Amino acid sequence: MSNLYNELTCLLEAASADVLELQRLHRRQPSSVTEDLVPGQRMIKTLLIGILCGAAALTIGILIGHFGITKSGSSAPPWLQDVAKDVDESLIETFLSEVNTLRIEENLRELTRVPHMATTAGDERTVQLMLKRWQDPETGLDRAWREEYLVYLSFPDPKKPNKVTVVGPSGDVLHAIREKEKPYTAEQEDPEVVQPYAAYSPAGHAKGKLVYANQGTPSDYERLNQTVDLAGTIAITRYGGAGRGAKAVNAAPYGVAGVLVYTDPRDINDGVTSDAGETYPHSWYLPPSGVERGSFNGQFGDLLTPYLAAKEDTYRIPAENVTGIPPIPIQPIGYEDAYVLICALDGDAAPQNWQGGFNCTYNLGPGFKPTSAFSASDVQMDIFNYEEKRNSSNVMGVIRGSVEPDRYVIYGNHRDSWVHGAIDPSSGTSVMLELSRVLGRLVKQGKWRPRRSIIFSSWGAEEFGLIGSAEYTEQYFTKLSERTVAYINVDIAVFGGATLSAAGMPSVQNVIFTAAKQVNRHKAPHAAAAEPLTFGLFAPQVAAPGRVSTSVYENWLRFSNRTSPALGLIPRLGHITGAGSDYAAFVHYLGITAMDFSHAYDRTKSSARTYPAYHTAYDTFDYASRFIDPGFLSHQAVARTAGNVLIRVADSLLLPLNCSDYAETLEQYLTTAESLYQEQLSAQKIPMEPLKRAVANFRSAASHLDRVIGASDLKNETPLKVRRINDQLMLLDRAFLNPLAFPEKYAYRHVIWASSSAGQPTFPGLADAYAQAESSGQSRDWERVHYQLSVLTQSIDGAAQTLVDVI
Ligand SMILES: *[C@@H]1O[C@H](CO)[C@@H](O)[C@H](O)[C@H]1NC(C)=O
Ligand SMILES: *[C@@H]1O[C@H](CO)[C@@H](O)[C@H](O)[C@H]1NC(C)=O
Ligand SMILES: *[C@@H]1O[C@H](CO)[C@@H](O)[C@H](O)[C@H]1NC(C)=O
Ligand SMILES: *[C@@H]1O[C@H](CO)[C@@H](O)[C@H](O)[C@H]1NC(C)=O
Ligand SMILES: *[C@@H]1O[C@H](CO)[C@@H](O)[C@H](O)[C@H]1NC(C)=O
Ligand SMILES: *[C@@H]1O[C@H](CO)[C@@H](O)[C@H](O)[C@H]1NC(C)=O
Ligand SMILES: [Zn+2]
Repeated sequence: MSNLYNELTCLLEAASADVLELQRLHRRQPSSVTEDLVPGQRMIKTLLIGILCGAAALTIGILIGHFGITKSGSSAPPWLQDVAKDVDESLIETFLSEVNTLRIEENLRELTRVPHMATTAGDERTVQLMLKRWQDPETGLDRAWREEYLVYLSFPDPKKPNKVTVVGPSGDVLHAIREKEKPYTAEQEDPEVVQPYAAYSPAGHAKGKLVYANQGTPSDYERLNQTVDLAGTIAITRYGGAGRGAKAVNAAPYGVAGVLVYTDPRDINDGVTSDAGETYPHSWYLPPSGVERGSFNGQFGDLLTPYLAAKEDTYRIPAENVTGIPPIPIQPIGYEDAYVLICALDGDAAPQNWQGGFNCTYNLGPGFKPTSAFSASDVQMDIFNYEEKRNSSNVMGVIRGSVEPDRYVIYGNHRDSWVHGAIDPSSGTSVMLELSRVLGRLVKQGKWRPRRSIIFSSWGAEEFGLIGSAEYTEQYFTKLSERTVAYINVDIAVFGGATLSAAGMPSVQNVIFTAAKQVNRHKAPHAAAAEPLTFGLFAPQVAAPGRVSTSVYENWLRFSNRTSPALGLIPRLGHITGAGSDYAAFVHYLGITAMDFSHAYDRTKSSARTYPAYHTAYDTFDYASRFIDPGFLSHQAVARTAGNVLIRVADSLLLPLNCSDYAETLEQYLTTAESLYQEQLSAQKIPMEPLKRAVANFRSAASHLDRVIGASDLKNETPLKVRRINDQLMLLDRAFLNPLAFPEKYAYRHVIWASSSAGQPTFPGLADAYAQAESSGQSRDWERVHYQLSVLTQSIDGAAQTLVDVI
């Protein structure tokens, strides 16, 4: 059987579109192919074409022969049925029923026993766990292995911990910032808990008057610089508003010597600040000494090997040439210490929208009030971080596809955490392990084999800058570009218990809806007990225990919806624009259709930026299982929904990617662009008509392809036609790549999905160029707008061209 599959795949590949194209060209205009060749070459070329056409004709003959036989019904070859096979709904039901909350819980317990920061012994322990599971003879995958990269990381020095102190005029230390978070459970006392630090902050010593710089955005420093001389100061900033590293990058031009960053209780805790009854271990809120760690590197992938896979012998740029990292020391601290510093600040009161959750007025500084204990004192930072190249592993596992093994559906999440990482990333890893167990078992029992290959990936060193996934896409660039159908990401699987949250290219909307409608939500057996502990952050559960309440889709619709011109009221699928997780390189660099799943808390009940223990020593199994997802039903809902999508993308005869839904988003982006920019662009004599025509072309090409699909009885079409349409759908996002679109943004090439500082829900390159031109008013900036408009127009037109009939 499997030999036959392989043979068929070979046939399909040999008789691929290229050959048919050549044959057609040859038949219609023989001279156009050979015209400008010298006689010898011409002869060889003609001969070659002849052979190829012969092979193609033979292949088609064989295929027609096979189909002829089927139609007559008697002796259909065994492969024919497999090649036309579609998603098996009963298999999906089996999958859904086997996803088990207890196993997810056990996975999480196992993954979070010890801290597992990238390349530590704890990380290696999780590598071994993934390998053991994926190589299990009963429930494993076909094959699993590790792939190593030598990557550039940054750590604090355990022998010389980073220090931040308030130093009086005579050099005496008046206050020292806590070096490690306060222990509430045994986990915080583990010696492997890394001291809070800013990865990629340079080592160094800085001392100066303290100033408050709000979120450390360019406009925050600009505003502060109007009244305060920033040279030689230490700026304290709160998380949010700007990227972590940007808070230091933006400060440096003003002569700021060092930066502190903390999480304001208003931004993370809904104002709650006391660990005597309010914060963890009493609720999901962050205790006063909790510190968000993180990478302060602004780009993704290994910093020393841009665009090259970081193998042992790969060329590396000199470390001093690395860009996008803090030029001055920066250190994160807890709000317990930030309170002491900020509430003692002297100077004018900060603007109203700079005020945070402390019960004092936030002043700008510089320096401390004469009436405070810190009068005339400086803040001193002693940072001892160091950089080092370390071996980091991705763990990969595959289930080989039966009919189209050379088409890949990739499902991934990172494995490394900052500390125990129960939610980030182990909630996602627990889900991935359960999903791969259920599918692996079906494969091992001989009950199922996907049509396309499934690649599971457990990325390493993601927390330092999405490194494992980026290196992988660089190493296998061509293969992945040509063969990947979609990338599915489940990183933080559960932020809270309220609703599914999903983001992705518009073409995946429909398959996500199909899956979400099929998954039911159950009431947690102990949800009633959980309710008071979790400050009402769980969705109201309506049904009796154990009874089906409502579908994931219906529930999602209640929390987040929009009205689509074509489909009416539907759940809101988010867009993937930035580099928030492991999908970044797939989306931005490779142009692979991608999606990201999680379960969210109710934002009407909490305005927390993210779940409060994010990147702290409190993100533990105890925290996750008591406050984020008691009963693990949200984990289960994500596993079922993402797994359902995975099976559908892997098994559907026709790829479940809808180009009309893509057209709708392009139209919305266009409408926004028209209302924001049309008037000024006309004044600048920059025409928007070509863009409007391109979007209209895309819509009509998408409608056309939908009609072609609708008019086809795909089960009885030739496999070549199905493969052709599938390739059109698979390659649609690739058509939007333009390496020239964002020359200043590392590895961003997808013209429609990129991070944009203008923050408008429209085409990012155009939005940013327009914002720049509008603020500067310079003609070369308006030329840049025109350039961006042309890049965009050409990309959309080019993409539309790939959807119309092949020739
Ligand atoms: C800060 O303000 C000073 C004086 O107002 C000005 O000369 C300087 O250019 C400003 N710094 C920056 C980086 O804009
Ligand atoms: C590193 O930076 C220096 C100074 O800017 C420059 O001269 C050199 O060409 C750079 N080297 C590489 C490999 O980029
Ligand atoms: C202000 O908040 C701090 C820290 O949360 C607390 O110790 C103090 O008692 C509060 N002061 C007042 C007047 O509420
Ligand atoms: C990385 O691994 C390779 C081969 O496994 C080994 O030769 C090399 O010494 C390792 N490098 C580091 C920095 O650990
Ligand atoms: C749509 O979402 C809003 C909240 O954004 C909610 O109030 C409304 O009830 C939702 N609509 C439906 C039909 O669930
Ligand atoms: C794509 O979605 C549109 C609605 O947006 C629908 O009319 C069309 O039939 C879908 N195409 C396919 C192939 O399912
Ligand atoms: Zn993270």
